[in-house]
Amino acid sequence: FEDFEIVSTASYVPEKTVTNEELTKLFDTTDEWIVKRTGIHRRHVVTNETTSSLCTQVANQLLLKSNLMADEIDLIVVATMSPDYLAPSVSSIVQGNIKAKNAIAIDINTACSGFTYGLHLVRQLLIDNHQKNAILIGGENLSKLVDWNDRSTAVLFGDGAGGVLIRSTVDEGTFIAEDLKTLGSYGDYIVAGYTGRPSPFSSQEVGSPFFKMNGRKVYNFAIEEVPKSINNALAQANLCTDDIDFFLLHQANERIIKRISEKIKISADKFLVNIGEYGNTAAASEAILFDQFVKDKTIKRGNKIVFSGFGGGLSVGTIIIKY
Ligand code: ACO
Repeated sequence: FEDFEIVSTASYVPEKTVTNEELTKLFDTTDEWIVKRTGIHRRHVVTNETTSSLCTQVANQLLLKSNLMADEIDLIVVATMSPDYLAPSVSSIVQGNIKAKNAIAIDINTACSGFTYGLHLVRQLLIDNHQKNAILIGGENLSKLVDWNDRSTAVLFGDGAGGVLIRSTVDEGTFIAEDLKTLGSYGDYIVAGYTGRPSPFSSQEVGSPFFKMNGRKVYNFAIEEVPKSINNALAQANLCTDDIDFFLLHQANERIIKRISEKIKISADKFLVNIGEYGNTAAASEAILFDQFVKDKTIKRGNKIVFSGFGGGLSVGTIIIKY
């Protein structure tokens, strides 16, 4: 075993959508402001689904598309910052739901870099454990972490899940290069999901569970660090930007993606975008994007693809693959 290949892709989003126009009934905003600042037109939000139910839908699709039985799966990794519980993990719930009785299950939380960090982790685990088949899913229920009275964050996020079935191979594989970086000193730029509840013995203050973000600083972090990360990964592989067919960046904001494309001097149409329909779905965004463009045959076997995630942590990560 030397490498991995991506056998299939899948995604699932809740049926309910909320348009910008509907948000104008909740707080003082306009469709024009949201579209101009972010590129978002609508987002999917859960009604009775959970992160684990979205991820289970994706896992079942992946099994079906890959022609595999659940007991052939060795590893399930879910990247999420919005799990159903702290325990059991989302990946354990998915493992139980699909009856993958031979799989070990692990959640990771690197917020919006979750899918890229997940690819890194799954590759290492497959190599170290000499395992064959892994499911990697990014899944989020961010609508429960949003303060729906706060216009500065409520317009940005959506719910959904996407994933890939990865198989180890001795043939020429998928992995080309990677560059990951964590900047924990700036963690307070994006905070969400505070879970502390003081015990009778603690003097901890009760915090807010909702998203709090320094939008300007996150914007500057993204346009500074993502181009560096992409260039580091390209240099490692001795590739130039022309060698890459598609760039699949975390869908945080269309303006950020456009600015990054200008900074690394690549035509914007190599950057696939679907934020208009889904909003920012954190760890799910690159996986949903990947599945959409594999399904419509824009992305073909043999294409060289740059995945780059960035967000909470702060964290940034780039992985280059040959699909
Ligand atoms: N509708 C109307 N006006 C608004 C809204 C809204 N929804 N939200 C903020 N405003 C107002 C502000 O109050 C402010 O008004 P003021 O000038 O009177 O004070 C004005 O618009 C400008 O606000 P800014 O926050 O400076 O707007 P900015 O141009 O920076 O855009 C945005 C905000 C879209 C959040 C931008 O900073 C951004 O994209 N940052 C990156 C955030 C991001 O990508 N986060 C994702 C990573 S986090 C993660 O993925 C989990």
